[in-house]
Amino acid sequence: MTGAFTLGERSVRRLGYGAMQLVGPNAFGPPKDRNAALAVLREAVARGVNHIDTSDFYGPHVANELIRAALHPYPEDLVIVTKIGARRGDNGSWLPAFAREELIQAVHDNLRNLALDRLEVVNFRAMSGDHGSAEDSLEAPLTVLAELRQQGLIRSIGLSNVTPAQVEEGRRICEIVCVQNHYNLAHRADDALIDSLARDGVAYVPFFPLGGFAPLHSSILSDAARSLGATPMQAALAWLLRRAPNILLIPGTSSIAHLAENLSAAELDLTDEILSKLNGVALAGGSPA
Ligand SMILES: NC(=O)c1ccc[n+]([C@@H]2O[C@H](COP(=O)([O-])OP(=O)(O)OC[C@H]3O[C@@H](n4cnc5c(N)ncnc54)[C@H](OP(=O)(O)O)[C@@H]3O)[C@@H](O)[C@H]2O)c1
Repeated sequence: MTGAFTLGERSVRRLGYGAMQLVGPNAFGPPKDRNAALAVLREAVARGVNHIDTSDFYGPHVANELIRAALHPYPEDLVIVTKIGARRGDNGSWLPAFAREELIQAVHDNLRNLALDRLEVVNFRAMSGDHGSAEDSLEAPLTVLAELRQQGLIRSIGLSNVTPAQVEEGRRICEIVCVQNHYNLAHRADDALIDSLARDGVAYVPFFPLGGFAPLHSSILSDAARSLGATPMQAALAWLLRRAPNILLIPGTSSIAHLAENLSAAELDLTDEILSKLNGVALAGGSPA
């Protein structure tokens, strides 16, 4: 396994696991095979994963219930990071849930479904596009989270789906221990943000590290993977590990074989030549090159 980095008050291995893919399609409803989902979680921990990303709005409630069923009582070193700020409609739609009472309820739902007395890290997930301006102030929701931290229900606070200006605002309101945004080999809008967080020792946790619902596909990536004797997904993860020391990975999978493949990415050694070729994937516009 690769090295570790600080996440709030804990240290976690840089290769973790994201639980969203364990539930039904579009992160809604139960998994097709519950036992297979439980097995993936147990295998992740058995292989040394000590950072699992989740949310009570995956399912809803399903991802957290699977984590509890598979892993509780939790190993001492396991850090479970959750996020709040959204809820699911009856048809699986994603709706904002930013009101004070909704945020408090979400923290209690996570505590109950994960069977925890305190949540180690809670990300406030802002919403963009249809759900409001990407530059909405974070003052109101972060004030609620800071109160819940004061009450001992949360140890550390993070942000997700945010702009650099929102990160700056958030860090003026309370300590922000991590930022979780969309970032991967082909989608690099956060390059400057990652570097500035790295300078301050704040973790950056890219979601969709493998491209998410539409996995990364590029001939540059495939060629690089071939010359490394690896798969394209492994090369994409190895590139992220090389990109900055504060990057913590949470690739998602519902498959034990893919889990093993992803965790082995830590052993790949990217030469400078391969690295500069992979940097070209974004220059090629992130589309199949
Ligand atoms: N903050 C946010 O707004 C937000 C948004 C999205 C996600 N997240 C978090 O980020 C985590 C990671 O994102 P993600 O799971 O959506 O996307 P991802 O990790 O980029 O990719 C997951 C997809 O890649 C496939 N996959 C995984 N490993 C593979 C491999 N070795 N070979 C081929 N295909 C592979 C998975 O299918 P299989 O199941 O078949 O392996 C799945 O379709 C999530 O689990 C969630 O915890 C956060």
